[in-house]
Amino acid sequence: MNAYNKPILILLGGGGHAMAVAEVVRAENAYTLTGYIDFEPHPAMTTYCNYLGDYSEIPALLACNTETFAIVAIGSNRIRQEESLRWPGLKWATVVHPTAYISPSARLSEGTVVMPKAVVHTMSTIGKHAIINTASVVEHESTIGDYCHIGPGAVTGAGVLLGDSCFIGLNSTILPFVTLPDRTILGAGSTLLKTPALEGTYVGCPAKRLP
Ligand SMILES: CC(C)(COP(=O)(O)OP(=O)(O)OC[C@H]1O[C@@H](n2cnc3c(N)ncnc32)[C@H](O)[C@@H]1OP(=O)(O)O)[C@@H](O)C(=O)NCCC(=O)NCCS
Repeated sequence: MNAYNKPILILLGGGGHAMAVAEVVRAENAYTLTGYIDFEPHPAMTTYCNYLGDYSEIPALLACNTETFAIVAIGSNRIRQEESLRWPGLKWATVVHPTAYISPSARLSEGTVVMPKAVVHTMSTIGKHAIINTASVVEHESTIGDYCHIGPGAVTGAGVLLGDSCFIGLNSTILPFVTLPDRTILGAGSTLLKTPALEGTYVGCPAKRLP
């Protein structure tokens, strides 16, 4: 805790997605954003918070303050997973922009970020370290796995089941009750009608697997 009685939060990553996450943290006002960690400073990030150094600084930060919360603010599903497993001492926050709608019966897991105007509807569950991006919709009774990214404007129909690390592109659609294997990618603007048999990248309408 700090002087304002809000827990301290840091971001891992300082790129474009990190700036968007920083804005969500500010708007939600549940944490004090003290800075970000990355391999090098990103000038645009100074608008939001200080550069704390590279990843080698994390043990020292933990030694100073055992109540440090963090978000892996990196768009790549694979890197979010790797970094979240690499730092077990950090406590993972869940941050939600105040304009998002989260059903009282929905459940969000640690490390997940919900961007402005997104909807997570009735009885849905979102896994760990997911990104529910701007104005996307997770319809009722859906399950979204760990490390998934639901892109801006994407809509998943009721009762969909996404495995871990799926990437659902901008403005795409998944019909109700479709199930996706782990690591499925759905291209921007694509419409997935049926449960695919194989992991892979699907594009178009109806979405077909890229060879
Ligand atoms: C699906 C995607 C990941 C494929 O990327 P890729 O593996 O580099 O594929 P390529 O660009 O080489 O395209 C391969 C083929 O698929 C087609 N294709 C790619 N993306 C497509 C899409 N979204 N819809 C329809 N066709 C698409 C290409 O035209 C190409 O067809 P061709 O072989 O007949 O020329 C990417 O195009 C995409 O849609 N990414 C989503 C980006 C996004 O939503 N980001 C959110 C950030 S917040």
